[in-house]
Amino acid sequence: MSTLPIEIVILAAGQGTRMRSTLPKVLHDLGGRPLLGHVMDTAAVLNPTRLCVVYGHGGDTVMSTFADRDATWVHQSEQRGTGHAVLQAAPHLSDEAVVLILFGDVPLVRSETLEAAAAIASQDKLAVVSAMVADPTGYGRVIRDANDSVVAIREHKDASSAELAIREINTGIMAAPVNRLRGWLEGLTNDNAQGEYYLTDAVEAALADGVAIEASVVLDEDEVSGVNDRVQLARLERAYQHREAERLMRAGVSLRDPTRFDVRGTVEAGTEVSIDVNVVLSGRVTLGTGVRIGPNCVVSDTNIGDGVEILANCVIESASIAAGARVGPFARVRPEADLGPDVHVGNFVEIKKSVLKRGAKVNHLTYIGDSEVGERVNVGAGTITCNYDGANKHRTTIEDDAFIGSGAMLVAPVTVGAGATIGAGSTISRDAPANELTVARGKQRSISGWQRPVKNKK
Ligand code: UD1
Ligand code: CA
Repeated sequence: MSTLPIEIVILAAGQGTRMRSTLPKVLHDLGGRPLLGHVMDTAAVLNPTRLCVVYGHGGDTVMSTFADRDATWVHQSEQRGTGHAVLQAAPHLSDEAVVLILFGDVPLVRSETLEAAAAIASQDKLAVVSAMVADPTGYGRVIRDANDSVVAIREHKDASSAELAIREINTGIMAAPVNRLRGWLEGLTNDNAQGEYYLTDAVEAALADGVAIEASVVLDEDEVSGVNDRVQLARLERAYQHREAERLMRAGVSLRDPTRFDVRGTVEAGTEVSIDVNVVLSGRVTLGTGVRIGPNCVVSDTNIGDGVEILANCVIESASIAAGARVGPFARVRPEADLGPDVHVGNFVEIKKSVLKRGAKVNHLTYIGDSEVGERVNVGAGTITCNYDGANKHRTTIEDDAFIGSGAMLVAPVTVGAGATIGAGSTISRDAPANELTVARGKQRSISGWQRPVKNKK
């Protein structure tokens, strides 16, 4: 770990033309978070004394996306190069710190890599994070002398053919003592193929000052890959998902196929959890011990208790599912659904903004909305809580141990008392008393001698 305070500058002013998008590049989504969000989160692991973000294109949207974060936003009105970008942030940096420079479009960098670079810089050196890549096209090349010491970084467009053959590239991540870097930035010129102020020219400036340059070589190429277009974005999405899947598997979660599993947020899981194929978890999801999720389920912002079983093809959003419950197949559990312990929600059932208490069962073809359903209640197939009168929503209360026959319409506001039985096919628009049978449907009659109509002759 570095001994000096760390300050971090994230460069995010680039336009990202190759994304072909009106959305600023750093706001494109990777694993449920904007690219820049990943970098800011990783930066935060180092507890920097200051986090500066240099923004340009789409600045207001970028800033407002991260309005809740403690960051110094620095505007770079014209993109005149990475060195120029860092120079815009320089007035905010303190001379007693080391500064770490990151790119907003390199989302998968690990905090360990950043800590290693900061540790080098705190020894009064310039740290360059490099990587060996199969295809170095487009990258700056790390130039070393006969002693293998780093002496320069040459941008692709400025490189000689011998330099172009070098496969060690500059990832763009650098760290240096602030007081040193300040001087180097002020000395930069734009006398190069792109007419830009290159941050990478700090290497030669350090050399001229007699400051040691140390490259920290990263082995995982995904970690230092940037996003310039949607092809690269999709590739890094897969790399990210692979990482998340491995993390969960190592923590005791079984994934039937880690390549058919997506996390778009944060997942906390107990052990003995098993997840079948094509499951998407988004937002904040917690999975208790022994949870089983069947194929093709989408679960977002939901707490799922121990031993819960979610069968195939369920969509569950902003809900809470207590221990021992069973949901699906083909169930839709909507926001503010609170399923108690051992509740069963079966196929083609929709639950919205309702509490189902311990042991309640709603097994087939039913809509329960704005309701409270008591313990051990059994709701028959095809029941609907008619909660909406066209203008307002009303509540339905079904007390403990009630039995709702199939095909009941419960017209809210209405209460079904404890232990009450509702006859199948009833339309209940007034409260049904406890422990009694309430039936509200046309009486059945049969007409003897009735004749079916016959087709008219043409
Ligand atoms: C840069 C490095 C190159 C390295 C590569 C790694 C320089 C001169 N070159 O090249 O050695 O191999 O990254 O991906 O540093 N940015 C600004 N303001 C600017 C210019 C850029 O904020 O005026 C930001 C961009 O938004 C981006 C980052 O800096 O996040 C890198 O800029 P980019 O133009 O992509 O640099 P490269 O040419 O790829
Ligand atoms: Ca780039």
